[in-house]
This record gives sequence, structure tokens and C-alpha cells, in this order.
Amino acid sequence: SQLEKGGFPHFMLKEIYEQPRTIIDCIRGRINPEGTDVILSGVRDHQDKFLKAGRIIIVACGTSWHAGLIGEHLIEELCRIPVEVEYASEFRYRNPVIRPNDIVITLSQSGETADTLAAVELARNSGAFIYGICNVIGSSIARATDSGSYIHVGPEIGVASTKAFTGQVTVLIMLALSVAKLKKSISPELYTTMLHDLQQIPQLMERVLKLDTEICDLAKIFTYAHNFIYLGRGYNYPVALEGALKLKEISYIHAEGYPAAEMKHGPIALIDSEMPVVAIATADSVYEKTISNIQEIKARRGKVIAIVTEGNEDVRKMVDYVIEIPRVDERLIPLVVSLPLQMLAYHIAVNKNRDVDRPRNLAKSVTVE
Ligand code: G6P
Repeated sequence: SQLEKGGFPHFMLKEIYEQPRTIIDCIRGRINPEGTDVILSGVRDHQDKFLKAGRIIIVACGTSWHAGLIGEHLIEELCRIPVEVEYASEFRYRNPVIRPNDIVITLSQSGETADTLAAVELARNSGAFIYGICNVIGSSIARATDSGSYIHVGPEIGVASTKAFTGQVTVLIMLALSVAKLKKSISPELYTTMLHDLQQIPQLMERVLKLDTEICDLAKIFTYAHNFIYLGRGYNYPVALEGALKLKEISYIHAEGYPAAEMKHGPIALIDSEMPVVAIATADSVYEKTISNIQEIKARRGKVIAIVTEGNEDVRKMVDYVIEIPRVDERLIPLVVSLPLQMLAYHIAVNKNRDVDRPRNLAKSVTVE
């Protein structure tokens, strides 16, 4: 009903706007009052498992799998533990190697996805420690795991996941920081910076939500596009995948996410003046590299919408449209940059009169194979 939507026309928009609040709920009780230390109880209670972990395997489906890819970057960079990310549906049928000192992390908003639950059951028999990151309290996957952390973002109704994704990424950031501190694999400076910036995220998200009118105008220009490409590198590569997934789920426009530098190995053949390209070119360690990828697109007359860090003037000269987001530590950029991508998909779908909250052929929770 209208009441449940809190005055918003769709649950999806309500859930996009809830994110500053849901991130606060997600970090509550996990960061000390001074804001100087973070620990997940699931990590604290099983320190030995994380200290002796030979490898971490992340299994999930859909949007949760995209969050898992960000988790891979975070855990490898900060904790120096090798990580693999697997689609649960593939993992469960390929007789994977799982060792007793591996940790299997599973991500699931609903906690009921059949393939993910089956992957967890498969891993149980191997003796690996299983850590669940779920939203729904008491769900099947939450119950089947040895330990875990809830994301605490509240019920997500829109089929296209928004606040659950940023909640999952937030838990993965806190998990990586907790484990890195235990392992002493992170510098005190980086630990402090990331923790400080994490606590700024709700405020930064509030600022990004103010871009709604600007993004709504941009959506009008691209409503009738037949294809879209989303590009990112590093921490933003999974964000590009997720941006493309949001658009295809709710607008039914064909969209692909790609690591920007891979374009030259095939997809660049698709670029002409009819091809909109959303390029994430924020201030991070791969910024310069991303810029040269954008130049390759512009040289072929692609229409580029770039997401940049505020104050950037160079990209503006190069591309067709620019969306500016506030500056934040590179590892936290996915939390901020996801919002304009969610809003862009939302407005395009609304312009096309799509059933935003209940897109055709999709289910919120896939409890069958
Ligand atoms: C379905 C939903 C997606 C979700 C995926 C995994 O396909 O439509 O939004 O990402 O399942 O769901 P889970 O509940 O396991 O995160």
C-alpha cells in the first residue's frame, strides 16, 4: 500500500532513500563509541578460524555475488588471504576443492536462495568454517552457517536489490577491517582512515541522494536506448556489473558491465554514437587507467556518462555528461557510487512505465533451482 511505501511511489525508491539510515543500522554496535575500532562478533568469537584461514571462498547469486566480488578485493588487499568468488549454482555442481582450513563466506539477502543453501550444505561436509552474511533473521542460510553477521537493513521489498547490496558491502568492509587488525596486515593509518570514512558514509549518501533531479533529467535522455555499457576498474568493476544488472532487471534494456580495460578485447566493437557508456572514473588508484579507456570510447563516438569525484574538471571536458560524487577512501567508493546507478536505473524504468517493484520473470527470492 501507499502507506507502507512511506510516501514514495515505489518500494525501490523508498529503499534507495533509506540507505543512509540502513548503513547506520548496519554499523551500530560494531564500532566502539569513540569510533576508533570495529569488530564483528562473528569474527571475534572465531578469531582462530580467521587467523589460520588458508583461503576464503565466497559463494552467492545475483546482486549478492557482486557484493562478494567487492569482498574479494577488500579481503585480499587488507587481510592478505586468497579469495575466490563463486556463483553458488556453479559451485554446487562442480565438485570443488574445499579444505578444512578454508572459510566459506556466503552472502544472501533472503537467506533462502536454493542454490546458495545447497552450496552451504556442500561446504559443510568438507569441514570448512561457514560464515553467513544475511539480511533475514533466522532464515535457512543464517541457520545453516557456523557463524555470521546480519546486515540489519530491514525488509527489502523491491525485487531489485538496493539497500541489501550496500549493507552487504558494509559488512564486508567491517569484516575485512576486523580480520586485518587481528592479522596485523593493515597499517594503523589505513585502518583509521577507512574507519573514519565508513562513519561518514551515511552523510555522503545523503548528499548523493540530492542528485536525484539531475539523474532524473539524465534518464530522460537515455530512456529509449537499446543497449548500455557500464565500465569500472578495481573496486568499481563489481559496481559496474551491479549497475548494469539494476538497469536490465527493471527497465529490460540490455546492459553489460565490463572491466574498462577489457573493452579492447571485444566489446569495443559495439561502440558507436548510439551506445551509452556509464564510466566510473572516481579518484582512486586506477583513475588514470580508466581515463585512457574513456578516451578509447570517445574516439569511437560513444556517449559517455562519467561518474567522477567532485572537483574533477578533466573528465568533464572529455565526456557527454558528468555525475559528481563526494571524495572518500577508494575502498569505500562502491557504497557511494552505487546510489546514482540505482537512481539512473529507477528513473529509466519509470519513464518506460515498467513494474519497477515486480519486474517480469523475476522473483525476490529464488527458492527453486
Ligand atoms: C534473486 C533476486 C536478486 C538477488 C538474488 C540472490 O534473483 O531477484 O535481487 O540478488 O536472487 O538473492 P539472495 O536473497 O540470495 O541475496
